Amino acid sequence: MAQTQEPTLTVAPLNPENLALLEQEGLSVKPLEPIGAEIYGADVRNRLSDPAIKALEAEMANRGFIVFKHQAGLSSEELIDTCTWWGGHEIHLTHGVHPATPGRNRRIFRSSSAGHKSISRTGTQWHNDGNLEAASFSHSAYYIARAPHNGAGTHFAHQGAAFDALPPDKQDLWQRLVSVNSASSVTHPVVHTHPISGRKSVWLHLGMTGAVIERLPDEGLTIDQLKTLPAHIDCFRLLDEVAMKNLFNDYNDLLDHSIKSGYGIHYEFDTGDLLFIDNWAVAHRASPNAHEPATQQGLDFMDRVIIKAPRNLSPQFGLPQYINMASPHPFNRDGVWQAGEPGFRWKDDMRTQN
Ligand SMILES: [Fe+2]
Repeated sequence: MAQTQEPTLTVAPLNPENLALLEQEGLSVKPLEPIGAEIYGADVRNRLSDPAIKALEAEMANRGFIVFKHQAGLSSEELIDTCTWWGGHEIHLTHGVHPATPGRNRRIFRSSSAGHKSISRTGTQWHNDGNLEAASFSHSAYYIARAPHNGAGTHFAHQGAAFDALPPDKQDLWQRLVSVNSASSVTHPVVHTHPISGRKSVWLHLGMTGAVIERLPDEGLTIDQLKTLPAHIDCFRLLDEVAMKNLFNDYNDLLDHSIKSGYGIHYEFDTGDLLFIDNWAVAHRASPNAHEPATQQGLDFMDRVIIKAPRNLSPQFGLPQYINMASPHPFNRDGVWQAGEPGFRWKDDMRTQN
């Protein structure tokens, strides 16, 4: 689908063809600034047409997330049916079941201020969901069955615009990096090309990365040329502690600056909001007051459903999708190789829950 790209770092405006198509289905789309979009006039109990779903999926990729407004009273099955519109069209099973989850449905993860002590909530550190997986979830749903009344919500940062905001030397370096998850040994590119928007997007887990591999530069070769060349073990090195600290701090700062730099938003929830986020396009974190107990923010309920990706988020340069972190590393140059949670500790008060 055609999209307009501004010359400066921005998020693509809504595509006029998609807007017209959605209007024909009775939906009105309101862009949020600078990222995201709200959808009015839908009742997600009624499946949209395939072209409308495709158009919304493209807007999610471009804008980061969409919010169907006024969807109060959805049953678990209605919520799950809507989730299968996107990505791999299948639900990824969650691990824990909150006692208050409707029907104890394993496909839904309910978090609540009432469950403050018993179940962890969305992490307060920037992250993408499903980093343990080769096929990190393509989309996540957040259904606000009952909104908090303290203005708590979620921060979103657009990872394509974040890449554009990097200085050229870091763009060059980060595109040559691959992270290794300290718990699952899965590898992911630190910069990937989003499969729908086509935008280069940053991606790093701040709480569970045990190593970062650098593909060393070759004089005169561009990153795209490097990707097509066969690489042998001497083409790689592991980042050392100083380089790791720099990378993690730069990544955290880049997303922290997203709101004031025009590629991030704090979205406050209303009861009945049904958010779908493109988990390959935006990072998120809970706002700090989302973790206040029910006595302070009111009793709220948020149901999360995670949606399988149709493809793996695979590393470049011929590196494998898994490199066993429980074994010694296979590289000829030494660096950080830190198995087990929380992986490399880049600051002292790290919080890893997400
Ligand atoms: Fe999350």
